Amino acid sequence: ARKFIIDCDTAEDDITSFLLLLRYGAEVVGLTVVEGNISFHQEINNALWAVEFAGVDTPVFVGTERPLIKSFVTVEDVHGKGGIGQERLAPSKAKPSPKHAVDAMIELSERYAGELEVMAISPLTNLAMAILKDKRLVERLKAIYIMGGTIYGRGNITPVAEYNFWVDPDAAKVVLNSGAKLIMLPWEVAVSNAIDESTWARIQSMNTRMARYYVESYKHYREFATKRQGMRGHPHPDVLTTAVAIDRSVATDVRRERVDVENCDCLTRGATVIDYSSPGHVRGYFMGEVKQIGERWKWFTV
Ligand code: BDR
Ligand code: CA
Repeated sequence: ARKFIIDCDTAEDDITSFLLLLRYGAEVVGLTVVEGNISFHQEINNALWAVEFAGVDTPVFVGTERPLIKSFVTVEDVHGKGGIGQERLAPSKAKPSPKHAVDAMIELSERYAGELEVMAISPLTNLAMAILKDKRLVERLKAIYIMGGTIYGRGNITPVAEYNFWVDPDAAKVVLNSGAKLIMLPWEVAVSNAIDESTWARIQSMNTRMARYYVESYKHYREFATKRQGMRGHPHPDVLTTAVAIDRSVATDVRRERVDVENCDCLTRGATVIDYSSPGHVRGYFMGEVKQIGERWKWFTV
């Protein structure tokens, strides 16, 4: 089985990515928690809850609670206080591992050298720390999938910055310039593949255990996206990134370009900078388009 670490700021989309990977036969060898969406404490609870819900024994590793240098804000208005519908408590017996997430990333990359893939669907602080601590880490990773940044300069936390890059642009810079094999899914791709009304209705009518989880956990975010942001549906950034990892043919327009990020403390903090003119400096891929994946929603609603 393919081996993944999921680096998560455990809201609805992060957990659905976890469930989706498992459903497609991947082995998730660690959930590493990082600052982001909601309170750190609730993120850890949600990760432990997700492991129990999935019925697996994936260890949960607690990572960084704040960005490398900058301060940040959580986005409970977007995801709700609990991040996945109601506030979840960690299952009573479950505890996170005593090992720090940064050390877990390094150790797991040694254990599964050449095989381990990282699903980086959150601010990149843990991953940057691990890369800084162990300069050979990226050589041992098979790939890093990043949900972050923008392709057309349209952000969600500021006019020009996507949240994950904005929270810790210094960390994002470390990862983007690390020489690792990167595959990045930008924010606008998620917006153009939002879950429309008929798909949402279909999932609601399924009434399976997974569909019930899905509907409950996305309810708050869907309200926010459709009512407060005027979108036609709710976007699925982390899940789309995961879908591409599972089946690369989901992405229809994959470009290989050098990507960097603005890490000033300024109006454009966290903005993505794509260099289309230096093919000699290629560092990774990003996706310009993802197929409408309509029928594929059955993937994670059974
Ligand atoms: C990203 O930020 C978070 O709100 C989501 O979990 C996703 O990873 C989108 O900008
Ligand atoms: Ca996330």
